[in-house]
Amino acid sequence: MKSARYAVLGDIHGNWEALSTVLADAAEQGVTEYVSVGDVVGYNADPAACLEKMRELNCVVVRGNHDHYCSHEESLHDFHPLAAKVISWTRDQLSEEQIEYLRQLKMHVSMDGFTLVHSTLDMPDHWGYVFDSLEAEAHFNYQHTSVCFYGHTHVPVVFDKLGRVTRRDTEMLKIEIGHKYFINVGSVGQPRDGDPRCAYVIYDTEAKTVEFRRLTYDLATAQAKIREAGLPERLAERLAIGK
Ligand SMILES: [Fe+2]
Repeated sequence: MKSARYAVLGDIHGNWEALSTVLADAAEQGVTEYVSVGDVVGYNADPAACLEKMRELNCVVVRGNHDHYCSHEESLHDFHPLAAKVISWTRDQLSEEQIEYLRQLKMHVSMDGFTLVHSTLDMPDHWGYVFDSLEAEAHFNYQHTSVCFYGHTHVPVVFDKLGRVTRRDTEMLKIEIGHKYFINVGSVGQPRDGDPRCAYVIYDTEAKTVEFRRLTYDLATAQAKIREAGLPERLAERLAIGK
């Protein structure tokens, strides 16, 4: 296994200001590789720019529900009306080639001793939300690497199968041999844990550490772009409260 420092990015959701802040920080922190647990697009005003940046970085990306619905002509009737409106808008912002990129994203990827999935490994296309250890239980039966990163809830958290511990206050996690970790990396572009700062993690495969990072970014510009695009006001407001 090669040693590397991975930035693990989740739920970027077309927020260019948040993404560029995270990438500048990652470069300063000596990150060598980029991976993503999906939802590159949806909600915010710069889906195409964020998607292109992922490709430029050779970022390994798995499919999120927004990536899926923005690239498949499926009915949006199960969606929250606000989410459905943004998915239609986002589809219109993307070229056919960019939509094809989203369409070919895999549901999960295992590489370098860890796994990436947007929701859960037991039923990745059901887009289940894992907020507690009971909801993580079924997933763990399908996790064959010691570390699996996920997103979808936009709430950073660690489930440790052996220790049966749920940690929400983590800044630095040491990966211990024999344990299995299911780690939500939080959201770059639309945090929902009450903290509006963008979130991501750095996974160091040699030091065996997962570092949770939070950063302030140019929220006002991201909000102004949402308003200029005619997207729902609620999307601009929620960025400021992290909900
Ligand atoms: Fe999401």
